[in-house]
Amino acid sequence: MVLAAGEGKRMKSDLHKVLHLAAGRPLLAHVFDAIEPLKADETVVVTSRRKDEVVATMAAHGFGRGLRWAVQDPPRGTADAVRAALGELGQTTGRVLVTAGDTPVLTTESLQALVDTFDSSGAELCVLTASVTDPTGYGRVIRDEDGRVRKIVEHRDATEEERLVHEVNAGVYVFDADRLVYALDRVDDRNVQGEYYLTDAVEVLVTEGGAVAAHRIDEAEVAGVNSRAQLAGAASILRTRKATELMAQGVTIVDPSTTYIDSTVSVGRDAVIHPFTFLEGGTTVGPRAQIGPHARLVSSEVQEGATVSFAVVVQSFVGPFASVGPFASLRAGTRLERGARAGSFVEMKQSVIGEDSKANHLAYVGDAEIGRGVNVGAGTITCNWDGVAKHKTVIEDDAYIGSDTMIVAPAHIGKRAATGAGSVVKGDVPDDALAVGIPARILGGKGDKMGRKEAERPNQQQE
Ligand code: UD1
Ligand code: CA
Repeated sequence: MVLAAGEGKRMKSDLHKVLHLAAGRPLLAHVFDAIEPLKADETVVVTSRRKDEVVATMAAHGFGRGLRWAVQDPPRGTADAVRAALGELGQTTGRVLVTAGDTPVLTTESLQALVDTFDSSGAELCVLTASVTDPTGYGRVIRDEDGRVRKIVEHRDATEEERLVHEVNAGVYVFDADRLVYALDRVDDRNVQGEYYLTDAVEVLVTEGGAVAAHRIDEAEVAGVNSRAQLAGAASILRTRKATELMAQGVTIVDPSTTYIDSTVSVGRDAVIHPFTFLEGGTTVGPRAQIGPHARLVSSEVQEGATVSFAVVVQSFVGPFASVGPFASLRAGTRLERGARAGSFVEMKQSVIGEDSKANHLAYVGDAEIGRGVNVGAGTITCNWDGVAKHKTVIEDDAYIGSDTMIVAPAHIGKRAATGAGSVVKGDVPDDALAVGIPARILGGKGDKMGRKEAERPNQQQE
């Protein structure tokens, strides 16, 4: 059971608490990541009247299959939420793992260890706990002189003396199903919040002579998210964990403390991530790539040996040994093929830049399809928008676009064709032609600036 119906009032947010992002992923997705490997027979998520929002967001992150959803409306406490889950499941036997939707840092290993402790202890209930430096806000685990768990008291209901206890409840439990039902029938709402607390099940069972065990884990893992400050804290732990994992796989992260990598990112061996770099969403970075300093990659693919520095790359593809920056912006739908370059103060969007083609300085390339070996001179602009519609620019292999050319789309520039500096080019420039002036005049056969007649190209034989 995943309890996620709480209103999250302390977040002061219009967004559902469990949908807030930590390291690029909703809190609830992190919880699902952790419980999935446990392969429970049934998984029920308890949500509120905002169920549709939660279901849709989780589906967008790839979750939904095999999940059952229960609605708890209004949310009247964690024990009441478990009741809603049992209502969805019907007759339940065996053991029940109850976890919260707002503890994104918990690992599969800790959950498995809790289940194992439950099994080996023969207890009716096993709770997950940790001794923390600052227990403020958490339920305190109260033990007797022999160290046996007696009850859990919520921070708000605790006495001064109880608040001195540093062992806290992580909000995760394994119950014997029958004893869970039994305890729920006996939990009341006489507390400061007027809610049905699942934590009261501990005292109910202990009072009846039942055995309640505890499994203690590391402090960092219990981090629950009730406030924005705690959200930042949990996200930081998740990012540190991700960086550590990547470094263990052979990635150099020069300064993990100034590097922000979402949990969904993958990075190849011997890639180097320089400081002040953000790798977000489903970004993948190939082996031996050099990323940063100061790079932001969003849902992009950067391949082997490519370089991206001081640049923003969104939903784009950077091919092997291609280079981006310094000071470049690749907007959605840009594709740099092998060895292509987007240099300083270059913006590209929805364009393909062929193998070894380059726009090294000050250019805007939008809605363009550029072939191989093309040189796009400084100051070139594809004038792709006429105020009403977007138009396409096609530049064929080995063309040479002179500095400050305005290419007024739709335009087509042929193979080995060239444009003169400062020209304004429209329509079609044939293969090998040179276009000069405003509007450009066409000088047939004068375009092959780089002396690259088709036949002379060693790697073009197959064409
Ligand atoms: C809870 C525990 C506390 C523990 C802490 C660990 C209780 C009473 N207290 O406190 O001992 O130290 O977690 O993080 O359980 N929820 C529902 N329906 C409700 C209320 C809550 O589904 O009616 C869900 C919330 O969405 C949340 C989880 O249960 O995911 C915990 O609720 P929350 O209000 O955050 O409890 P805490 O005060 O953090
Ligand atoms: Ca909480």
